[in-house]
Amino acid sequence: MLMIANWKMNMTKSEIFAFLDSLAGEDRWRAWRDRGVRLVLCPSYPYLDFLGDQCKSRNLPFGIMAQNMCAFEKGAYTGEVSAAMLKDQGVEGVLLGHSERRQYFGETDGAVAEKVTRALSTGLLPVVCFGETRQERESGSCAEVWSRQVGPVWERVRKSRAEGIQTPVYWAYEPVWAIGTGQTAGLEEIREVSSHLRKAFGEDCASGLLYGGSVNDESVSGLCEKGTVHGFLVGTAFLDGGNVLRVFDRLFGRP
Ligand code: 13P
Repeated sequence: MLMIANWKMNMTKSEIFAFLDSLAGEDRWRAWRDRGVRLVLCPSYPYLDFLGDQCKSRNLPFGIMAQNMCAFEKGAYTGEVSAAMLKDQGVEGVLLGHSERRQYFGETDGAVAEKVTRALSTGLLPVVCFGETRQERESGSCAEVWSRQVGPVWERVRKSRAEGIQTPVYWAYEPVWAIGTGQTAGLEEIREVSSHLRKAFGEDCASGLLYGGSVNDESVSGLCEKGTVHGFLVGTAFLDGGNVLRVFDRLFGRP
């Protein structure tokens, strides 16, 4: 299980120190890791290196991923961060196509596909976010939206695989109406997504499905099903170390 904390535009140095202090106890993290459970933290760009160093010095086996990156390789793109730069910072993967990037920064399905190609060729594990709005759900167009968001990316993944790049890809189903609202999709809806990916793009495509949207220690147990959900992408709740521990305890038991 991959448990990812998307910190979005939150967490300064002092808050990161407090977060890591509250998660102290390297033995339990090793035990969870040995059971196949990993915690990955996604801070803002300026803290990637710092957070990696802090985790190492505390013997906390957490992965570090970025929240975004530029599709271009390098050059005159003021304000952007390249895949190679992320790699240089010891980052293992990157969230791509989050609905907030689509909504506030005009990121298109095509741009997400370009970024995924770049991530794969640089050896970064892409976590590709997709999901429908409330209106799209109510108008019955979910399957069409999922295919539109996943299809162009899956095509690039297959092409990369044909070229010998075997980096895995995770898909984070994050219905827009569930993000930060306290409402979650039900297990039935997540099963529907999994079955849609399988039918539209093949078994392999559905093998790394994560769920995100108002996950916390109360909602998480009802959203977990072996073989369907391979992890969670958590925003608000994982800004707090106590909540991280409560979710881990609830899902995986205290080692
Ligand atoms: P919340 O957990 O705050 O709903 O955010 C989900 C999310 O957007 C994670 O990427």
